[in-house]
Amino acid sequence: MEKKFKGKHFLSEDDWTKEELDVVFETAFELKQKFYAEEPTLYLPYKTLFMIFFEQSTRTRNSMEAGMTQLGGHAHDLTADKMQISHGESAKDTAIILSRMGHGIACRNCFYGIGKKYLDEMAKHATVPVMSLQDDVYHPFQGLADLMTIFEYFGRNPKGLKVTISWAYATSHAKPLSVPQSQILLFPRYGIDVTIAHPKEFPLTKNIVEKAYKNAEVGGGSVRFTNNMDEAFEGANVVIPKNWGGFAFYDVDYYLQNEEECKKEMKANLEKYKDWICDERRIKLAAKDVKLMHALPADRGKEVTDEVIDNPDISIVYDEAENRLHTAKAIMALTM
Ligand code: CP
Repeated sequence: MEKKFKGKHFLSEDDWTKEELDVVFETAFELKQKFYAEEPTLYLPYKTLFMIFFEQSTRTRNSMEAGMTQLGGHAHDLTADKMQISHGESAKDTAIILSRMGHGIACRNCFYGIGKKYLDEMAKHATVPVMSLQDDVYHPFQGLADLMTIFEYFGRNPKGLKVTISWAYATSHAKPLSVPQSQILLFPRYGIDVTIAHPKEFPLTKNIVEKAYKNAEVGGGSVRFTNNMDEAFEGANVVIPKNWGGFAFYDVDYYLQNEEECKKEMKANLEKYKDWICDERRIKLAAKDVKLMHALPADRGKEVTDEVIDNPDISIVYDEAENRLHTAKAIMALTM
């Protein structure tokens, strides 16, 4: 296993060069092949990862914990409410203490205007690698798994591939901006042409969009926006219908000072766009062999119909979810 990444934080793909990410993908493919061959991959014997979740998780929690076991180490599944964080212990003190006891810290904190700052504070003080398990800005492990899945279906040079990321209606909760934001930053670096569709009240964060344009310029891909879901689906090779909250419609400080009011307005705005669903009609607008991706969990019948997500000729969501394991193992094995 490469040693040059030991101690490197994983907070966003944007902190990693393309060459570094290529090593991560190579490692993930190798680990996947060994997983299926049932070959041992004990690259982190007796090492400990501390995972702190401020929110619920199925894929992230289990890919990290199973991954650590498969690498020969152990992951502590911690929730903030069971730690002294709930009595106000700082990110700094938590990071320093856990650094003294183990070999990696991973954290999910998606509170808007708070999560990324919390992760950055941990990374500043930790002496072991800090990994984002999703915050209010980025979901880097999801981005890796998504791109690995695209590589598997479309080859390792996806230049010119048309990927549509569309906002979609959902009622389960106002989902963070972090999944589409990680995708629009990462995909164009590999030459992918990304179209983002969203109603005007559900934009992505301005500085992330600006960075995505720059990444596209360097990587040879492109980024374009539309407020029309049908238009975005036309000719797409991959469609990713996904809800996100209207957080970026507000200035962060304004949102934090007027949270209840903003949430009420976001809910009212949401109800205007019930027809933003990925269904068979819209799939017919896309390329002939279009693939459906979704980070999951999906709001079935709202973001996407059962007919589409359960169609094995179209849906690759379970491969995408499985690749969370292999990419998580790659980052942990390389950095811890
Ligand atoms: N996609 C994703 O992060 O899933 P979980 O919320 O279940 O971890």
